[in-house]
Amino acid sequence: MTVRFEVNGEMRSTDAPPDTRLLDYLRGEMRLTGTKEGCGEGECGACAVLLDGTLVNSCLIPLGQLEGAAVVTIEGLPTDSPLARAFGRAGGTQCGICTPGMMLAATALLAEHPRPSLEQIRSGLDGNLCRCTGYTRIYAAVAEAAGEKA
Ligand code: FES
Ligand code: FES
Repeated sequence: MTVRFEVNGEMRSTDAPPDTRLLDYLRGEMRLTGTKEGCGEGECGACAVLLDGTLVNSCLIPLGQLEGAAVVTIEGLPTDSPLARAFGRAGGTQCGICTPGMMLAATALLAEHPRPSLEQIRSGLDGNLCRCTGYTRIYAAVAEAAGEKA
């Protein structure tokens, strides 16, 4: 079975087994290693990507579900966006393992709530775990990026 879908604006076609995890396809086939594997069970958000604009954990998405879909990974986000700059300034990145998923979660959040409250930021990022920052700096980065965009 051939599955066709878009990754970061590029059309892809694959005959890989339909139960192949999107995470493995991105990291293995496409070498998009910004998408990380943490738990492998849908609990940590390290593997988060946007699927038709919605935040999903790519470790839980089989290729067979992707016909006609559009996937965006961290490599598909602008490198010099208000969000990327704010993460750097606020110290929202330490080891970096959670950062791609956090930035994609923040992207989805800001698309829905351009000026989010702290509660909305917490809630938008609550599927993404960070072992380093204590979250405060990440929340500050998202708030700062929202202010810069406004
Ligand atoms: S690796 Fe996918 S949610 Fe943790
Ligand atoms: S910066 Fe290390 S897990 Fe978040």
